[in-house]
Amino acid sequence: MSDKIDWAREYMPILEAVREQWQEEQPLDDVTVGMAMHVEAKTAVLAETIAAGGAEVHITGCNPLSTHDDVAEALDSQEGISCYAERGVDTEEYYEAMDKVLDAEPDVTVDDGADLIFRLHEESPEQLDGVLGGCEETTTGVHRLRAMEDDDALTYGVYAVNDTPMKRQFDNVHGTGESSLASIAMTTNLLWAGKTVVVAGYGYCGRGVARKASGQDADVVVTEVDPRRALEAHMDGHTVKTMDEAAEGGDVFITTTGNRDVIRREHFQRMRDGAVLANAGHFNVEIDLDALDDLAVSRRDVRDGVEAFELDDGRRINVLAEGRLVNLATPVSLGHPIEVMDQSFGVQALCVERVVEEEPAAGVHDVPDDVDRRCAEIKLDSLGVEHDEMSAEQREYTQEWQHGT
Ligand SMILES: NC(=O)c1ccc[n+]([C@@H]2O[C@H](COP(=O)([O-])OP(=O)(O)OC[C@H]3O[C@@H](n4cnc5c(N)ncnc54)[C@H](O)[C@@H]3O)[C@@H](O)[C@H]2O)c1
Repeated sequence: MSDKIDWAREYMPILEAVREQWQEEQPLDDVTVGMAMHVEAKTAVLAETIAAGGAEVHITGCNPLSTHDDVAEALDSQEGISCYAERGVDTEEYYEAMDKVLDAEPDVTVDDGADLIFRLHEESPEQLDGVLGGCEETTTGVHRLRAMEDDDALTYGVYAVNDTPMKRQFDNVHGTGESSLASIAMTTNLLWAGKTVVVAGYGYCGRGVARKASGQDADVVVTEVDPRRALEAHMDGHTVKTMDEAAEGGDVFITTTGNRDVIRREHFQRMRDGAVLANAGHFNVEIDLDALDDLAVSRRDVRDGVEAFELDDGRRINVLAEGRLVNLATPVSLGHPIEVMDQSFGVQALCVERVVEEEPAAGVHDVPDDVDRRCAEIKLDSLGVEHDEMSAEQREYTQEWQHGT
C-alpha cells in the first residue's frame, strides 16, 4: 500500500460512499474493466473502488509522463488490479502497455483522452462485440469519440463524463486552474505577481487558469478563436488579444485549447527572452515544438521539467514538461487537487455501474442526471452543507407552460 493513496482516500468522500455500498452489493461482479488514465494517487482510489465493486481491473497510463511509479507499483500489488503504467515510456512502450489492458478483454473501458477505445477499435475489432460500454474523462476524448460517432466508427455506448456539471464546472475550471499554476510555480520557482500571463483558450480550463492567475496578481491576457468566448473573457475583466499581439508581451503562456499549433513559429520569433511556455490541454500538440526546435541554435535542460531553447539572437524560450499537460507531467506535478477528482471519479464510478446495468446503445451519451445529482448530494453532505428543495407547487410551476403575466 502507499501513503499517497491513503492520503487521497481520506479526501474522497464520494468514492468512499460508493465503495461502502459496492462492497455489499458487488454490482461489478464478473466484470473486467480496462482503464487508461493518469496513474497517480486519486486514480488509484478510483481503481480500488471499481475493484471493491467486484470487478477485475486492468489499468495503464494515458500520458507517457504522468504516471507515478510508486503508485503504479502499489496498485499492481492489490488484489484484483493489474497495472501496466510506467513513467517516461516511449510511444511504442505506451501502446504495448495499452495492449496488455486489451489482452484482458475488458467488458467496460474507462478512458482519459480516448486512446484505449481508439486502440481497441483499430487493433482488436474482434473484441468489440463483447464490450458493454465505456466512459470518457476529458474534453479532447469526447471530441474524438463524437468524431468517431459521426463516421459511424464507434461501436458501443460511452458516457461523456467530461461534459457533466459535476465534472466540467469543477475539475476543468478549479482543478486545471489551481494545479496548472501550482505546477508551473513549483517547476520554475518563479513569482506570479506582476507577470503577464497569456492564456490561450477561454473554455472551461482557460476560464479557471485565467481566474486563478488574476487571483495571484498577474495581468491576464486571453486569446480565443470563438467570438463569444473572447467577449466573455473581455467582460470577465481580462485583456483579449490575438496570439500575434500577445506573443510580444507575455511572461508565461498557458495553452488550454485542445487544438494544435496554437503557439507557433511566428509567435516564438516575437517572444521575450525567458518566456515560459506551458500546455494544459490534453495532448502535446498546442505548442509547435518542431518549429521551435527548428528555430533554436541549442536546447538544454535548465531545471527538472524545464527545457530552454536558445534562438540565434540569444533569447531563451523555456518549455515545461515537453509541452505535455503541465499539471501532470513535470517531475513535481501532482495533478488536480484530490477533492475535485473525487467529483470526477465519483461520476466515473457510477457510470461504470450504469454501463453494466444498461449497456448503452452505440454512441456518445450524456451522464444520466441522477448520477450527477447523487454525487453532488454526497459531496454536500460530506461538507455539512444543506440546500433547499422545491415545493410541489414550485415543481409544477416550472414544468407547465400555461403560466404567464
Ligand atoms: N490539464 C488538465 O488536467 C485538463 C483537465 C480537463 C481538460 N483538459 C483538456 O484541456 C483542453 C481544453 O478543455 P476545455 O474543457 O477547456 O475545452 P473547451 O472546449 O471548453 O475550451 C477550449 C477553448 O479553446 C478555444 N480554442 C480552440 N482553438 C483555439 C486557438 N487556436 N486559439 C485560441 N483558442 C482556441 C475554443 O474556442 C474553446 O473556447 C482539452 O484538451 C481537454 O481535454 C485538461
